[in-house]
Amino acid sequence: MSAAPRRLRAMTTTTATATTAIAATGLRKSYGDKTVLDGVDLHVPEGTVFSLLGPNGAGKTTAVKILSTLITADAGGIRIAGHDPATHPDAVRGAIGVTGQFSAVDNLITGEENMLLMADLHHLPRREGRRVTDELLARFDLTDAAREPAAAYSGGMRRRLDIAMTLVGSPRIIFLDEPTTGLDPRSRHTMWHIIRELVTDGVTVFLTTQYLEEADELADSIAVLHGGRIVAHGTADELKRLVPGGHVRLRFEDPGAYERAAGELRETVRDDQALTLQIPSDGSQRELRAILDWLDAADVHADTLTVHTPDLDDVFFALTATTTAARPSPKENVR
Ligand SMILES: Nc1ncnc2c1ncn2[C@@H]1O[C@H](COP(=O)(O)OP(=O)(O)O)[C@@H](O)[C@H]1O
Ligand SMILES: [Mg+2]
Repeated sequence: MSAAPRRLRAMTTTTATATTAIAATGLRKSYGDKTVLDGVDLHVPEGTVFSLLGPNGAGKTTAVKILSTLITADAGGIRIAGHDPATHPDAVRGAIGVTGQFSAVDNLITGEENMLLMADLHHLPRREGRRVTDELLARFDLTDAAREPAAAYSGGMRRRLDIAMTLVGSPRIIFLDEPTTGLDPRSRHTMWHIIRELVTDGVTVFLTTQYLEEADELADSIAVLHGGRIVAHGTADELKRLVPGGHVRLRFEDPGAYERAAGELRETVRDDQALTLQIPSDGSQRELRAILDWLDAADVHADTLTVHTPDLDDVFFALTATTTAARPSPKENVR
């Protein structure tokens, strides 16, 4: 994990306990006999980033639509900025902004016209609408493209315009439904930067994603949605502690050296095909030094040594193992 979210986390913890921005208990939603949400509880403190993580079809968009008053739940209690969407939908709508999975941008008009239209919808006075539009277009690096039809925008530009439009109403709570799906790596990083800036401004962000890495980068707290239920929740670090799997992996080019090492070293997991040995390890300096000393003492010379610490992929695949078929090979961090 990079330093930035940690810093943000430190900055936000002081306000985190103060007020609850989003709370839901026992959320249920079915379509016909298909149960999409089967008793979902969520709690998002003000000024934090919450990530609802799940694969395609998990029910992320359904949850966002319910919490943002677009559809109603079959059962469950909800409070958004203290308001109940069932009885006070307008109060909820006044507090939130939603950037849906599918763009709200009108491609036939320019980026600027899209923004001004938004300002009109929020009943901003003309001059104020103009000011907010110019400011947000500049903030999202869209000033040069402001007078081009949105149809000519790249995917990343359209997402930025979409978020800029959401911010016209100065919402304190923002729902971002898969804001980076389909974006190229550079645009994805720009989007992450935008999300971090929102949080620095004190906005609460409810982010859905299928990317574990994204939740790891951005979220103060993560809930994994699977089979209509939250199967795990916590910080990225807490979730990672749920799974074992930290190890040091030794790889050999020479089958003879591999066999000798496998004979010498206890507590290893062999992979005879790949000529690799895995030694359980938490990846700490102390354990690494012990392993290196041990290798020296046994006169074992591996061709590569890699440290694997459990990441959110491990957590996700462990939690969803019952229905997830193939597991991609684990990410290795070469130290
Ligand atoms: N209006 C609808 N009618 C019937 N089924 C729906 C409707 N909306 C969503 N679903 C189903 O609910 C499940 C969850 O969908 P969705 O919330 O869009 O998942 P996600 O956003 O996590 O990909 C899917 O199986 C989807 O087909
Ligand atoms: Mg969706």
